[in-house]
Amino acid sequence: MARYTHATIDLNALKYNFMAMSRFSPSSKQVVVVKADAYGNGAVAVAKCLQSQADMFAVAFIDEVFELRDAGITQPILVLQGPHEERECELTKTLNIVWMLHVEQQLNWINKRIQNNQISNLHHWVKFDTGMHRLGLMLEDYDRLNADYTHIFHPKTVMATHLATADEPENKASSTAVNQFLSVMADRHSCLSIANSAANICLPESAKTWNRMGISLYGSSPFANDEMSISLKPVMQLNSEVIALREIAAGESVGYGATWTASKRSVIATVAIGYADGYPRQAPIGTPALFDGVVGELVGRVSMDMLTFDVSNIEKVEIGTKVELWGNNLAVNEIAKQVGTIGYELMTRVSKRVPRKFI
Ligand SMILES: Cc1ncc(COP(=O)(O)O)c(C=O)c1O
Repeated sequence: MARYTHATIDLNALKYNFMAMSRFSPSSKQVVVVKADAYGNGAVAVAKCLQSQADMFAVAFIDEVFELRDAGITQPILVLQGPHEERECELTKTLNIVWMLHVEQQLNWINKRIQNNQISNLHHWVKFDTGMHRLGLMLEDYDRLNADYTHIFHPKTVMATHLATADEPENKASSTAVNQFLSVMADRHSCLSIANSAANICLPESAKTWNRMGISLYGSSPFANDEMSISLKPVMQLNSEVIALREIAAGESVGYGATWTASKRSVIATVAIGYADGYPRQAPIGTPALFDGVVGELVGRVSMDMLTFDVSNIEKVEIGTKVELWGNNLAVNEIAKQVGTIGYELMTRVSKRVPRKFI
């Protein structure tokens, strides 16, 4: 017998979100970002589900390519951090990789191989820094780079950037970054990639040849404050169940460190999921979960394998009652807000020991 705790991954919701997001930019091609095991939703299942609609998949580094290729995924895979070592370039053709090149060392590695006819110029994009200051070549170096790496700067090469503030629709920095990027690339390159999920929705001028979308496909709002209402369906639902129940008297405490004390006679439900499953240990007292659809509040510290909730106000809770930690009825972003993080982190942290059930 296995414990009931699992994450349900709704592949119909994934397809729905892909269609909904594609409608914002019908003439763009869509890169489906499946790095970090598709944000915890299962990279192979997500890629298989979207393989007839997605034009390309994207991962962070080469190790994430292997799993997709072993599973029979054939679309080109964009590697967002480019090759970390020169020898990775040898696998470009075999694995049908498209490298996002962001430093000159990588330009050298690939330029050399195109020159030697080892690979074609279809296997790389070039990334520019427009204010994130994390990865990317500097826009002011464009002319020199273009002259030094002629095989890399082909007119058809996709030129890309990633926006630092696309999740804040009011922030003018995003349009400034897009304009700076476009003013350098216009008339030189016709294939561009700027938009992630948030930009695809709120910054139409950023939706170019290719978009790179992740979080929205998994049904979570890409906006920092959820102020734009968009109709997306949650893909992941994190479920567990009650494995113990007790009544405690006023003045009794719950959990490690006795951090919560009952102010009245209370019913405490113990739920079979903890921080080792990816539920955030920082979740504060009062964080909600749904017990057969009714809200119970977290009390006491999150432990490795268990959570404790005050369910005094819920009429019928028993051992075996199903619990939704987040999902269709409790947005992952709602829990993220309570914890002081983002939905991306909560989903990617759901650990391996939580089985994914695909529906
Ligand atoms: C370079 C790059 N492009 C696109 C994405 C997808 O962003 P989002 O999940 O916000 O759609 C990411 C995600 O981190 C990224 O790093």
